[in-house]
Amino acid sequence: MTFPFRLEPLGGEHERSLFHCGDDALDHYFQTQVTQDIRRHIANCFVAVEAVTSHVAAYYTISAASIPLVDLPPEETKRLPRYPTVPAVRIGRLAVDQRFQGRGLGGALLADAASRTLKADAAAFTLLVDAKNEQAVAFYQRFGFRVLASQPRTLFLPLATAQKVFLQKDAH
Ligand SMILES: CC(C)(COP(=O)(O)OP(=O)(O)OC[C@H]1O[C@@H](n2cnc3c(N)ncnc32)[C@H](O)[C@@H]1OP(=O)(O)O)[C@@H](O)C(=O)NCCC(=O)NCCS
Repeated sequence: MTFPFRLEPLGGEHERSLFHCGDDALDHYFQTQVTQDIRRHIANCFVAVEAVTSHVAAYYTISAASIPLVDLPPEETKRLPRYPTVPAVRIGRLAVDQRFQGRGLGGALLADAASRTLKADAAAFTLLVDAKNEQAVAFYQRFGFRVLASQPRTLFLPLATAQKVFLQKDAH
């Protein structure tokens, strides 16, 4: 079956006011603040749009980031140069509208973020996500994200691993 959603940058044609994921802060951000963050180069936002209806089914934001080298486990950093920080891309917010949850969209958004980061001109060693609660931590862990020792609600997934998890299986 073909995937019935398009993944594209947020634009003026997308209707944001009807978006409800079950978390007021994530809804409010999407409805009122995200365009300001895009204009100010604080974040970029991508949406999943249902192809048939053009309803916005999900969104995520990404921004450039960095983390201290010492926050990553030694097995991940042993081949890295001893710079104090490691380049990263942070998925700041990610949400799926309640009408569309449980259909693989959350995973599809993570795959899209990994794919865009791997194609970007500026290199990043790892994806980062900020999970808002323990349930969200569990969701990200299903895809191989691991909790940072210093920040239990921040998880990381090196791009080399993300490529294997999300993109090589797409090739089949
Ligand atoms: C959490 C959320 C993003 C998941 O999106 P989704 O499209 O429903 O998830 P998917 O259908 O892609 O699920 C992928 C896998 O994660 C699992 N999963 C989904 N939600 C989960 C949760 N809250 N905890 C643990 N696992 C979860 C699914 O069972 C599925 O596993 P499977 O492939 O073995 O069946 C979505 O429910 C949501 O937006 N919730 C409200 C906002 C929120 O919590 N955002 C998290 C960012 S802080």
